[in-house]
Amino acid sequence: MTKPTAPRRKRVFSGMQPSGEAHLGNYLGALRRWVEMQDQYDCLWCIVDDHAITAGGNPKDMPRNVLDLAVSFLAVGLDPEKSIIFVQSDVHEHTELAWLFNAVTPVGELERMTQYKDKSQRFESIPAGIFNYPILQAADILLYKADAVPVGEDQRQHLELTREIARKFNATYGDTFPETDPLIDESVGRIMGLDGEAKMSKSLGNTVGILAEPAAVWDRVRTAVTDPQRVRRSDPGRPEICNVFTLHKFFTDAATRADIENKCRAAEIGCVDCKRILSDNIAQAFGPFRERAAHYRAHPEEIRRVLSEGAERARVIARGTMAEVRQKMGLDWRAAID
Ligand code: TYM
Repeated sequence: MTKPTAPRRKRVFSGMQPSGEAHLGNYLGALRRWVEMQDQYDCLWCIVDDHAITAGGNPKDMPRNVLDLAVSFLAVGLDPEKSIIFVQSDVHEHTELAWLFNAVTPVGELERMTQYKDKSQRFESIPAGIFNYPILQAADILLYKADAVPVGEDQRQHLELTREIARKFNATYGDTFPETDPLIDESVGRIMGLDGEAKMSKSLGNTVGILAEPAAVWDRVRTAVTDPQRVRRSDPGRPEICNVFTLHKFFTDAATRADIENKCRAAEIGCVDCKRILSDNIAQAFGPFRERAAHYRAHPEEIRRVLSEGAERARVIARGTMAEVRQKMGLDWRAAID
């Protein structure tokens, strides 16, 4: 009797732009869950440098930014024994598939993307890369036929478009791609930056780095905006609208949080003390990450090996998908001869 083959584990893909060390928003919205998922799924974690060129930074900074993000990945516990960890530009099939997806992506859908609307306002002459960005993101995901993609709330729209592209491709060229599920942790939502005004984002300078030393965490957290109506320490605070209090949810135990909440309302604890507790808890939670990061910074050759081997393993899957896609799209002239 033949042994029944085990069902294929679900495949999960996600990516992060390299703008150096990951921040709290990246960690709570994405990385934290990526680490947990590694035991259950076949995972690919990608540093998306081809995407990052659309942000218009200095090319000289890119290699360092990629390396720093790789350190963050490994420091939080992404594990090359369990997952494929790699850099997007090492696997050329991403950009090739993105071009081919141009054939099925409606311009109207791209125009609807809120990230495009936001980002394009920063330019006088809008680069096409910002517009086409979600096509490359769809290619990243579908190249590996990923069943699910764990991301933060801000990526929801891009994932809806990915599903749309898969549907359109399948309808035009035959069943090829899955309709990938977005995995979004509703309880996290969008982590707001320290300014309390916009989502936490490196480009806005409102972040706390996950590898910052305790003193540096404090330097950042002490600048955080709190309840604007609480001008004096004797004014009662409103924890429900305070971003610092929201962040406590992720780093402070329930009893302490309840105590802070009551004392804030009764003006028995000041914002500085509240921030101090948060800062200490963040620094403590990330202590093990700092230790692991120090190890990898001292051994960059290990990172080189992880990323090189990761790209090799990713390429094997990518090549398989591209052979199928090219054939389905008629990009195999030899078929007319053979
Ligand atoms: P990026 O690099 O901006 O962010 C990486 C991940 O971190 C999450 N995140 C947040 N979550 C909550 N609050 C925040 N303030 C916050 N900031 C960032 C993001 O939701 C994301 O999960 N376009 C993507 C990168 C990408 C990608 C992909 C993702 C390219 N190809 C394929 C998934 C699958 C981006 O710019 O994420």
